[in-house]
Amino acid sequence: MSDQQPLFKRVAIIGLGLIGGSLACAIRRNGLAEVVVGADKRADELALGHELGVIDEAAASIEEAVKGSDLVVLAVPVRATRAVLEEIQPWLGESAVLTDVGSTKSSFVADVEAVFGALSPQVIPGHPIAGSEKSGIRAANPDLFARHKVILTPDEQVNQSALDRLKRLWEGCGATVLTMSVAYHDEVLAATSHLPHLIAFSLVDTLAGEDENMDIFRYAAGGFRDFTRIAASDPVMWHDIFLSNQQAVLRVIDHFTHDLEQLREAIANQDSATLLRVFSRAKAAREHFSKMLSGQAYVTNNSEKQVTFRLQPGSAVTGDIRVPGDKSMSHRSIMLGALADGTTEVKGFLEGEDSLATLQAFRDMGVTIEGPDAGFVRIHGVGVNGLQAPRGPLYLGNSGTAMRLFAGLLAAQPFDSELTGDASLSKRPMGRVADPLRAMGAVIDTAEGGRPPLKIRGGQHLSGIHYEMPVASAQVKSCLLLAGLYAEGSTSVTEPAPTRDHTERMLAGFGYHVHRDGATASVSGGGHLKATNIDVPADISSAAFFLVAASIAPGSDLVLRHVGMNPTRVGVINILRMMGADIEVLDEREIGGEPVADLRVRAAELQGIDIPEDQVPLAIDEFPVLFIAATCAKGRTVLRGAEELRVKESDRIQVMADGLAALGVETTVTPDGIVIEGDQTIDGGTVNSHGDHRIAMSFAVASLRAEAEIEVTDCANVATSFPGFVELARSTGIHVTAEGDE
Ligand code: S3P
Repeated sequence: MSDQQPLFKRVAIIGLGLIGGSLACAIRRNGLAEVVVGADKRADELALGHELGVIDEAAASIEEAVKGSDLVVLAVPVRATRAVLEEIQPWLGESAVLTDVGSTKSSFVADVEAVFGALSPQVIPGHPIAGSEKSGIRAANPDLFARHKVILTPDEQVNQSALDRLKRLWEGCGATVLTMSVAYHDEVLAATSHLPHLIAFSLVDTLAGEDENMDIFRYAAGGFRDFTRIAASDPVMWHDIFLSNQQAVLRVIDHFTHDLEQLREAIANQDSATLLRVFSRAKAAREHFSKMLSGQAYVTNNSEKQVTFRLQPGSAVTGDIRVPGDKSMSHRSIMLGALADGTTEVKGFLEGEDSLATLQAFRDMGVTIEGPDAGFVRIHGVGVNGLQAPRGPLYLGNSGTAMRLFAGLLAAQPFDSELTGDASLSKRPMGRVADPLRAMGAVIDTAEGGRPPLKIRGGQHLSGIHYEMPVASAQVKSCLLLAGLYAEGSTSVTEPAPTRDHTERMLAGFGYHVHRDGATASVSGGGHLKATNIDVPADISSAAFFLVAASIAPGSDLVLRHVGMNPTRVGVINILRMMGADIEVLDEREIGGEPVADLRVRAAELQGIDIPEDQVPLAIDEFPVLFIAATCAKGRTVLRGAEELRVKESDRIQVMADGLAALGVETTVTPDGIVIEGDQTIDGGTVNSHGDHRIAMSFAVASLRAEAEIEVTDCANVATSFPGFVELARSTGIHVTAEGDE
């Protein structure tokens, strides 16, 4: 910064407390102004500031500080603002920028208007969210704002260049600058800072007034100490803040008092359902604060995380492992559990971000869900008509399944809802569910081209329809069956080819009759679901990476436990066996209406094949890794009839072909598939997974037969379906490390 032009010529800091002093020395150290002048009524503090090198010049008066300064920063107590503004007013230059660092913003604006008559475009209220237990100029610290947030609340008429320079000044001090409206700032701070301080002051005061107060404090547990730490804050400052932010604070106190009263009642009435609902919702929110901050209830904003896989060529894959729970069943277990009467317990739930998004969405609709805890979840069902309106849009991350199934479920609710997702999900087609739902009577708006977000109008009356699905999609089928639970009469769906039938099986498990007639599944609306317990098997789609890994890596011998073997999901095993894979199915059993088995896979010479089209829907998620198998097989593999792959989390045909090309593997892409000549050398190189979890994991498998290091970028979304992939893969002999912020 120092070899660039300083942002301001002369900065006047009025008030040399901790914040003013820290800002002064941060500006000086980072060369953000030519001169920093300080003014403070306390002559000793001012002199000390100069002596300590916090400021360049100590001004003898406000006039001396303000005259000729192109930035004036008010760093005085909030309640002193108006008086100081009156002193500044005669000397403030026409083009000078005026800002402050106070904790409340409406009061600052009101003071400026009272003194100056109006808010000029050069006035930009500010609030650095930083502080320290220490106070005074001696505590001034040029790093105080580093990695902290500064909120600016400019008016619409603001002078853009002034705003830009002020932003750059704070950024130059290491802060992240956010802008928001004055009113919003005060509401947010009232809730997140002012109210907690009030409660802490009040609680400590109440307890200190009790007779046994000495004992109370003597035995005070750690929680009490943590909770009340902020009651030791500066009383005068907080007095100022509460009186300045009166309206917003009163609103949040009323809201909180109301909720506290409800908890009081719940305790008085032994109402454990309410207590559990509130506590588990709060626990989830507390554990996922930062995620909630980015407007996402539970899931991580993976598009902002950069994770890169680095892979060294491998040898044999061995071990005895269990991959995480089935994603499709995990989603459905939460959905049906929530709609059931009674309590449903789920074992083996996938704690991946997709199914967690579904879980959180139901919490947002008032369902009490305990866990997940090592795959165990307890859902306190609210009945088919028990969902409550969520407070805001339901954010479903990367999950197409969640969005499509929710569309069906929400189309019939009495309340409006909005479904949003990440960048990948926002590109995926939703017309395939919105159109038939509209035919049932739903009112749904989509963005252009039938893309998310989906805005669903509540209070509609749905009627059953018969729908011939143009594409073989379990998501569309499930969406319509879920809507059918609420529709008048019967809703039936005919599929052009068999697709996964977990919805039908699980509905039956919850005691809801699903009629099956060849390719048609139907339900009648108006029934009830009875809570049940669910044991989710390991996800065959996750097992698939290891089935291919062990098949292509010479000397491999791997056992995969408790794998879901639903006939509508075993396409990957069928295809690999046709290619000559050595997969033994052991101990086949049925658990909770779903077939399960252990699989033993040993390395084998694979042969290229023409993949039968009827296997496509049965292996729809496994093609990326099957392309790796085809690359290592002898002879040609041809895939046709798989255009659906182009609208998954990425265009899986093109993205795989591009990734293989980056490793020197040639393929021929067709509109509905790919042709891969086998026995090709896999070079080292860099592959872009385009944020698609299955592409990332497929190239991790490819490394086993690569000649040199493979780097796969944009891998954060592996957490959507396969948390712990890297560790598990390493335990079997795949040489993978993940770099980047997890
Ligand atoms: C899923 C169905 C499939 C699959 C997806 C999960 C489900 O999608 O690709 O990963 O849980 O119903 P389509 O039914 O759209 O093919």
